[in-house]
Amino acid sequence: MKIVVTDYEGAEHELEAVEGWSVMQIIREYGLPIKAECGGACACATCHVYVDPEWFARLPEKRQGEEEKLDEAFALQKTSRLSCQIILDESMDGLRVRLAPNPD
Ligand code: FES
Repeated sequence: MKIVVTDYEGAEHELEAVEGWSVMQIIREYGLPIKAECGGACACATCHVYVDPEWFARLPEKRQGEEEKLDEAFALQKTSRLSCQIILDESMDGLRVRLAPNPD
């Protein structure tokens, strides 16, 4: 399965993804510039991504911890998610996300 990630320059990267991994782990594995400071513990909000609108509704609901942490994310949008909380399964083959900006 694959996911498609748009970077800060607008370039699209098609990444080979692994079921059971988080979207954040895949993005990091390929060396794209995602901060993910807490390493996936839902404690930092620097793994923030914008999910393609068509995909957003198809993803599993946010859990409460993600909802709360996301409130602290920079430049929040309607389709914002924390990529460490999106655990990949077969239904997400082709998922499209864009890296959200982080303040320095
Ligand atoms: S990596 Fe910190 S909240 Fe996702």
